[in-house]
Amino acid sequence: MNLNAIDRYAKSLIKEAGHKIRVSFFNTIDIDSKSDANDLVTNIDKEVERFFIERVKEDFPDHKIVSEEGFGDRISSLDGTVWFLDPIDGTMNFIHQKRNFAISLGIYVDGVGMLGYIYDVMADDLYHAAKNEGAYFNDERLPQLEVTPLEEAVIGINASWVAPNAKVDNDKIIQLVTRCRGTRSYGSAAIELAYVSSGRIDAYISMRLAPWDIAGGIVIAQEVGALATNLQGEAPHLLGTDSFIVTRPNLHNEILTNYIRLK
Ligand code: IPD
Ligand code: CA
Ligand code: CA
Repeated sequence: MNLNAIDRYAKSLIKEAGHKIRVSFFNTIDIDSKSDANDLVTNIDKEVERFFIERVKEDFPDHKIVSEEGFGDRISSLDGTVWFLDPIDGTMNFIHQKRNFAISLGIYVDGVGMLGYIYDVMADDLYHAAKNEGAYFNDERLPQLEVTPLEEAVIGINASWVAPNAKVDNDKIIQLVTRCRGTRSYGSAAIELAYVSSGRIDAYISMRLAPWDIAGGIVIAQEVGALATNLQGEAPHLLGTDSFIVTRPNLHNEILTNYIRLK
């Protein structure tokens, strides 16, 4: 398999899809809700997903594509070449802010992440990586992540975990957000992963993410030495939803051991 050719192909699809999304703001966007009133989807999420699927199925008929809006394949194993696509990660931002959302794409071969892309559509910033070939922010090579003490770390976390909740001991999260330098919540897991990889934040924690949220970002994160696991410290499995943490290498064990108590 010629991964360089697939890389060029994937980048051109992403740029074309990004253009479609930007142009969509000239028309009325249809908004629907899914599992609850705040779980949003638009006609543009669906159109972009169908655009990728049609192209990939035509040009790589033996590849699988797993994607959020359900037009792709259902898989029960990671055998073969699998594309994990979130056509718009951060749909709420897409609708409310018209910025801070991304196309997230990871291409895996027999379960190994080979190519990863996070495209911040409105900024026109592409974070990308190929396994063992380094990670890039547009044309700029991203350096290996260095040590940052927790007291100087900015942590990406949703504020709701500081309130009592069913998933995690919020007293520990209060200790974490009190001890670190600051917190941020951007509303797009993919952008938060890209920000950890590019050193803009130092860790990102989520209690529940899907494979298409993280598959591309994991490839990028691994190329700069970030550690990405679920909140039990296990490698992400990409066959269903799970908790997730990605950090600079020195913060992973410290955060998991001292500040995360799952219920
Ligand atoms: C969501 C965003 C959000 C995260 C949610 C995801 P969507 O993806 O990444 O930041 O907290 O868990 O579902 O629905 O906008 O593609
Ligand atoms: Ca998503
Ligand atoms: Ca999405």
